[in-house]
Amino acid sequence: MINLRVNNQDVEVDVPGNATLLAVLSNDLKLRGQKFGCGVSQCGACTVLIDGEPVKSCQTPVTSAIGRSVTTLEGLRDSNGGPGALQQAFIEEQAAQCGYCTSGMIVAAQALLDRNASPTESDIRIALSGNLCRCGSHNRVVRAVLKAAGSPA
Ligand code: FES
Ligand code: FES
Repeated sequence: MINLRVNNQDVEVDVPGNATLLAVLSNDLKLRGQKFGCGVSQCGACTVLIDGEPVKSCQTPVTSAIGRSVTTLEGLRDSNGGPGALQQAFIEEQAAQCGYCTSGMIVAAQALLDRNASPTESDIRIALSGNLCRCGSHNRVVRAVLKAAGSPA
């Protein structure tokens, strides 16, 4: 058994030690925000936070999250279970097309906002440089993050 803390809840999972964090979150804990895209740490669709830092969960062993705090897209809801401020900004800016990259974008952007409440466009583009969008929604994503930070473009 492996004990984890995910979205501020203690959970216990019966998984092999070489399981990836992505597999455990998606298959065992039934959290569907993070996505399997490339599987080789290139696209960012699987991004979650460990102790507030974005990680590519497809290449992160679940054991590396033991004793640390994991946050997924689901953990970014507001206190009523609705979209958090950043999620709402993504909705308002229509920052998703197919939506496959969106969870990873939001999670990575949240990490940025948590350490820099007033990022510039350049800060945002650098912070999200590891998150690819094949639909080309990057400009709307940037607008959404600026809006969430209170600096609408
Ligand atoms: S699925 Fe993890 S980076 Fe692409
Ligand atoms: S919205 Fe389709 S990959 Fe980004």
